[in-house]
Amino acid sequence: MADPALSIVEDASSAARVVADRVEELIRGRPNAVLALPTGRTPLRLYDLLAERYRAGRIDFRSARTFNLDEWVGVGRRAPGSYAAFMDEHLFSRVNLRPENRAIPDGAATDLNAECAGYEERIREAGGIDLAILGIGRNGHIGFNEPGTPFDSRTHVVDVAVETRAANQWSFPDGRVPTRAITVGIATILEAREIVLMATGAAKSAVLRRMLEGPIEPSCPASALRLHPHVQVVADAPSAADLRSRTEAPGR
Ligand code: GLP
Repeated sequence: MADPALSIVEDASSAARVVADRVEELIRGRPNAVLALPTGRTPLRLYDLLAERYRAGRIDFRSARTFNLDEWVGVGRRAPGSYAAFMDEHLFSRVNLRPENRAIPDGAATDLNAECAGYEERIREAGGIDLAILGIGRNGHIGFNEPGTPFDSRTHVVDVAVETRAANQWSFPDGRVPTRAITVGIATILEAREIVLMATGAAKSAVLRRMLEGPIEPSCPASALRLHPHVQVVADAPSAADLRSRTEAPGR
């Protein structure tokens, strides 16, 4: 167990640049890399940068594969608010990732347990995840692994916490946020060879402190990442403001 590497940068754009640099480096060295991808507001600038770098010929996604971390249950792939629609808008329509190489759990599947088992199988068949990029919820969730989720969990269906539903209201035009979701498990995430967690904004400062300085336990799912040997936390200054042990990286 090693402490996560902590990069504190000036602002959200700098955080996105640090993570985009890592994605670019990884795919240059390993064109068929397997990425796990988050949704939410945090990665928006990252996806803009990846699209820009694709257009500039700096990153070629032709052989890369992606697995999204989660999806709402009961929301079709094209429905507004679905993470599939989010990914199409913010990344997939803007880069050359092949449709067959980008996976998102199907929240409209009739047999959700089979969908979860099949998703795990697809990750295994792809050779596992090289780099998992994560955001963090204010209650410490990663993917949709809410507080209390066992660290040995695999892809499963969850009841989304009330505060998490409220935090996601912005992405549903009618304001009706589903109550359940499919998420990869904490064990699925911990099997990634490398993990980068992005945190931006003052609203994440308390949870970042809990994650990095509180006890490692299921009440804060993100604390599980401290059990992984190769984790980088990329935080902007506002989200890092409550950390006791701050090592400022040069602002970029
Ligand atoms: C959702 C997603 C998470 C994401 C979190 C934080 O709940 N399921 O994967 O990390 O939101 O979202 P934001 O980046 O908007 O703060």
